[in-house]
Amino acid sequence: MTGDGQRRLEACWQYFDPPRRLNKSTLDGYVAQTKQQQAALDACRTYSPGDIQAGHGLFLFGPYGTGKTHLAIATVRNLMEHSPNLFGVRQRDTGIYDPAREDYRGLCCSFFSVVDLLDAMRPGSESKREMGDWLFHRAKADDLVILDDIGAEKATDWVAERLYAIVDIRYRMNRATIFTSNLSEKQLQDQLGGRIVSRIFEMTEQVPVIGPDHRRKMA
Ligand SMILES: Nc1ncnc2c1ncn2[C@@H]1O[C@H](COP(=O)(O)OP(=O)(O)O)[C@@H](O)[C@H]1O
Ligand SMILES: [Mg+2]
Repeated sequence: MTGDGQRRLEACWQYFDPPRRLNKSTLDGYVAQTKQQQAALDACRTYSPGDIQAGHGLFLFGPYGTGKTHLAIATVRNLMEHSPNLFGVRQRDTGIYDPAREDYRGLCCSFFSVVDLLDAMRPGSESKREMGDWLFHRAKADDLVILDDIGAEKATDWVAERLYAIVDIRYRMNRATIFTSNLSEKQLQDQLGGRIVSRIFEMTEQVPVIGPDHRRKMA
């Protein structure tokens, strides 16, 4: 990769902002121990920039510790490493001129833990509100968004309404989303309501990630 490509990749990865523990997740580093995990790995390997542009997403679901979050992050890493020039970052307008700022135009990708995103969006101080609004905007508008561990949040009307706002606009605007979840379709419906879940299932290919709990193995 050229120096420019590397700089761009770093900027896009910083903007993507995956959790540090999983920052180095790669598809090559994913060990498929079951047929379902192999099929899931294949689905992630074939996920392409064309899928992002077409608004095609993935719904990675299964028990804890099977590598759902790992796969979601590694999928984005794989795309960005292959074609850094297709990706870009959204600039937050702070009103302050920054001469060092690079404006990379291209597909913007964001990672959100659903629980953390909702926490950031909860009403609070003025400074918190600005950050919450910015993250909410990215969650609605970016070209590819990972919504990690949907269904893990405590179900309230406010939560269901905020998540609906995100999912519905992504659905209507045909924006690609990769969801991970520990819940089945039925459990997710109980948690979030049928109108969100029917949209999620239309927006995605459903990919079971079923295998042993990798965290236990490591312990
Ligand atoms: N099949 C796998 N191959 C390699 N590493 C894995 C695999 N499954 C999980 N891991 C690792 O185990 C940890 C937990 O995985 P994670 O993706 O957070 O699981 P999940 O989201 O399914 O609960 C991470 O450090 C991840 O990199
Ligand atoms: Mg996870």
